[in-house]
Formats: sequence, structure tokens, C-alpha cells
Amino acid sequence: MIPFDHLGPVFKRFASLVYPQRFRNDLASLSRRMERGGHVLDAGGGTGILSAFLYAQRKDLTFVLLDPAHGMLRHAPAFAVRTVGVAESMPFPGHFFEAVMIGDAFHHCDDPDRAAEEMRRVLKPGGVLVVFEIDPEKALGRFIARAERALGEPAHFFAPGVLSARLAEAGFACTVSRYAWRYAVWCTAPRRAG
Ligand SMILES: C[S@@+](CC[C@H](N)C(=O)[O-])C[C@H]1O[C@@H](n2cnc3c(N)ncnc32)[C@H](O)[C@@H]1O
Repeated sequence: MIPFDHLGPVFKRFASLVYPQRFRNDLASLSRRMERGGHVLDAGGGTGILSAFLYAQRKDLTFVLLDPAHGMLRHAPAFAVRTVGVAESMPFPGHFFEAVMIGDAFHHCDDPDRAAEEMRRVLKPGGVLVVFEIDPEKALGRFIARAERALGEPAHFFAPGVLSARLAEAGFACTVSRYAWRYAVWCTAPRRAG
């Protein structure tokens, strides 16, 4: 297993390098459409890199970081609310968040379908889910997937079309953006609660 509990300082310093500028721009565009004062969940948020990108644009939003590793959360920025837990079983009420982001963490979930159901449960109707992942159809993505498997991680790496279809099965309407060996699935939760 990857010892995330001990890797907080490393992720704090280097994790932003995983996210290309074009993705950050896309996230910034999305943030402009979010309701004032809304709640955003950064699932598997680690040291809060994705939240920090959005906070730079929208200081009025409340950011909630969920991660099982105390050692990552300890290095999160003070503006974020930190919660220890996993994406498959979230300690939040239903229909609570305007947006959920999960960056470079979905493949770490033991049960990705359960995590997708939970993300849908906690999102408000019409809320937005952003899943940023590594593409196992690209050479570098394949290498990372093999390395994580060798380290005993769940390594649930899905090709963009496969993940998008799985999230659609969970009830989301999805589109995919590709960023070389990474990609994001941008999803909207159904407009009606349920
Ligand atoms: C590669 S790090 C990414 C952290 C952060 N999103 C970033 O971009 O820097 C993966 C994170 O997923 C977390 N994680 C592992 N299993 C998880 C689960 N079942 N649910 C939520 N997060 C999980 C790890 O503790 C770790 O912080």
C-alpha cells in the first residue's frame, strides 16, 4: 500500500504538477457557475490541492476535504474543513454539496461503484461531479497503474469511456476532457432528487 499517512509534505509540494493548466482553466470556468456560498467536497482530497485551485477563484465557497489519511489532511490549508473518512461511506447528509471533486483518488477506492453512488447521494440535484484520473490507455498511465498494483493498491484505473459509462450508470450525465495521459469526467447529477 502507498503510505499516504507519511506523504503529506511530498503531496503538498508536488501534487499540483499532476494537474495540467488546461484542466485548471476548465475547473476555473466551472467555478464561475457555482452558486454563491455553496459547499464543495474534495473527496480523497489529501492536502487540498484541488480545493486550493478553486479557492483562488472563489473564496465565498466552503471547502470540505474528505480523506482517510490524517497525515495528508494535516497539511491541508486552513480554509478547508477536514474530515477523516472514505468516499465509499461518507459522513455527510444527502443533497448537501453543490459540487464534488475527486482528483487522482477514485482509483484508490476499494469499491469505486459504491464511491460513485455516495458522490451522487451527497450532491444536490443538478450538482456537479468532477473526476480527474490517469488514463491507463496511455503509456505513462499504464506504467503508473502497474506500479500501483505492485504496491498493493486497488488500482482501479478505467479508460475514459469506461469510467464515463460507469458514472452514467450511477445516474450522472457525463462528458470527458482529455489532457495527454490524464483526463477528467465532468458530470451533472439528475435534476430531481432520488
Ligand atoms: C494520489 S493522492 C491524491 C490526493 C489529492 N487529491 C491530490 O490531488 O493531491 C490519493 C488520495 O486518496 C486517498 N484515498 C485512499 N483511499 C481512499 C478512499 N477509499 N476514499 C477516499 N480517499 C481515499 C489517499 O489517502 C490519498 O490522500
